[in-house]
Amino acid sequence: MKKFGIYTLDALDVAGKTVLLRVDINEPIDRAADRVTDDTRIRGCVPTIAELCDRGAKVVIMAHQGSDIEYKNYYTLRPHVRVLEQLLGSKVQFIADVCGPAAQDAIRGLQPGEVLLLDNVRFMAEEQTLFERSLKLTHEQQADTLVVRTLAPLADYYVCDAFAAAHRDQPTLCGFEQRLPSAMGRLFEKEYSVISSLMEAPERPCVFVLGGAKIADAFLMMQTVLDRGIADQVLAGGVVANILLAAKGEQIGAASLGFIKKQGYDGFIQTAAPLLEKYGEKIVLPVDLAYTEQGKRGEAMVGRLPDDKMLVDIGAQTAAKYREIILGAQTVFVNGPMGIFEKQETEFGTKAVWQALADTAGYTVVGGGDSVTATNQYGLGPQMGYICTGGGALIRFLSGEELPVVRALRHAAEVFPLD
Ligand code: 3PG
Repeated sequence: MKKFGIYTLDALDVAGKTVLLRVDINEPIDRAADRVTDDTRIRGCVPTIAELCDRGAKVVIMAHQGSDIEYKNYYTLRPHVRVLEQLLGSKVQFIADVCGPAAQDAIRGLQPGEVLLLDNVRFMAEEQTLFERSLKLTHEQQADTLVVRTLAPLADYYVCDAFAAAHRDQPTLCGFEQRLPSAMGRLFEKEYSVISSLMEAPERPCVFVLGGAKIADAFLMMQTVLDRGIADQVLAGGVVANILLAAKGEQIGAASLGFIKKQGYDGFIQTAAPLLEKYGEKIVLPVDLAYTEQGKRGEAMVGRLPDDKMLVDIGAQTAAKYREIILGAQTVFVNGPMGIFEKQETEFGTKAVWQALADTAGYTVVGGGDSVTATNQYGLGPQMGYICTGGGALIRFLSGEELPVVRALRHAAEVFPLD
């Protein structure tokens, strides 16, 4: 009934009961068309929703869309309704409210087997990451926020299936566990199981492919997997590789260096230097890189990189080298693309590395938003071992720290025993 000190759905007797279900369906959105452009995370939580409905629960879904820290791109969850309805094959009610009177009435009106989606919880200040970081509320204090005080009395259980947001310390993620018997959903259970076994006993060689432009996350992960002996090799791409090359003393050119400084990433050049010193043999860097000139792709060897052009992808020789390493690995973990894969002239490296991930006999784990998008863009999902919905959560999980949501769910298992 319990796994990792947390109740699973098997522990709940949900027939006729109201279940508050927190999911992470934060997806890329096409605002002009008012639609979701990738449904990976929505698909991920459908088994939990379907199971709760089949077992006769009244299901109230809470979720966020967009972020106040990195993107400042909040959006309503209305476009998600259609996708959920298609995947569930049944009606999903929506209310443009989080915990006001309209939401409360809608919850009270639910019948067993029905699903209600509330609007973006981050429309409420108390649910925002800035609020989290500046006030640092304890979980007990989070139980006194408006959303928890208002919704908890209307529900019998709280279920969290939002593994991708498990690193956030916010009321809809960590506050309800103080008030209600709680469990993790099926996706949370699966992601926790897959990632913890990857961390504990990966089949070797175990290779991490780290790219993209989420630099703090990438360096946190690199440091962790090398220090803990999880990674045998790390293959670098994207801005991560450019920073490592600069730390090694390679001339990456004024354009790329300027970009790194403008983004405030120059401090990572200092972070990277001791990493290279300690793990230089394990960190594999590009031997060639790509740039664009008047919309056309060009490539140059490291040591002869152009000064005035942004480096936007790994080169063909690097892609071939990475492919060979990936084909020889037993476990490959990927987080972050090799370059700007959204554009045709700069997608080569990402496409080639992703094809190698699809071709290897080793077990592949894809994590993080952009990596999942690239996987879907190339239609390679079925050939990957596991696609994790989390990015930041996964990275912090691998670093070995107890995630706030895990802590909250374990607390609920102790104070609301269900056995
Ligand atoms: C994500 O996209 O990684 C999760 O939805 C969490 O979002 P956040 O980093 O904005 O909290």
